[in-house]
Amino acid sequence: MTYEEQLAAIRQYSYDKMSGDATGHNFDHIERVVRAAKRLLKEEQADPLITLGAAYLHDVADDKLVDDPDKLELEIKEFLQKIDLTDEQINEIIYITHNLSFSKSLSDNPPKLSLAGQIVQDSDRLDAIGAIGITRAIYYGGKHSETIYDPEIKPREKMNKTEYRNLDDETIINHFYEKLFKLTDMMNTPTAKRIAQKRNQYMVDFLDEFKAEWNAEK
Ligand code: ADP
Ligand code: NI
Repeated sequence: MTYEEQLAAIRQYSYDKMSGDATGHNFDHIERVVRAAKRLLKEEQADPLITLGAAYLHDVADDKLVDDPDKLELEIKEFLQKIDLTDEQINEIIYITHNLSFSKSLSDNPPKLSLAGQIVQDSDRLDAIGAIGITRAIYYGGKHSETIYDPEIKPREKMNKTEYRNLDDETIINHFYEKLFKLTDMMNTPTAKRIAQKRNQYMVDFLDEFKAEWNAEK
């Protein structure tokens, strides 16, 4: 199989797995992450098959989307073998998809990613901020019946993975402080950081306007 055929097969596999999801991890999220990764690949010398393959597959075995992530990881490995990726390529892709999530980066000993992994992580994080990020947070919050805003509930300062997933007392607006405003400083590559700064400002302006309207100041 050529590189193009392998990538097309991975795209189709991801589409089959992701297109039914309604938590903001829909396939349109995957395609945006792939587009961002392609953009970052223009500035960074990483392997395109590993980078884009991992971008397509990064949410397929996510533990919040599937009951048995280990089983899905195994399934992904078998699929990648079938389309003739080497064991080394498969291990690199699986390592990235296993380790890139925000929840993993909350651990005391966050995993170290290759340049390809850093690009996919940046691309995934870019999709959580800016206008798209605002939309996804509201969509996720609605799906989980979160309160929109409550000035009495303060954002949580330091959270582990379980606390991050616990949505009692969570508000959509607090999610900006608990996660989204932190992502710009966490970007790995200079290009992603530059894009993130612009998107971050957009979220700051959005919250200023939101609170002014909330308090009838405007
Ligand atoms: P990851 O796969 O990186 O762990 P998440 O599951 O944390 O990503 O986030 C998926 C999307 O849902 C992101 O756009 C994120 O900002 C949003 N999201 C996650 N948790 C919340 C929350 N408590 N309230 C609102 N939006 C959230
Ligand atoms: Ni993602």
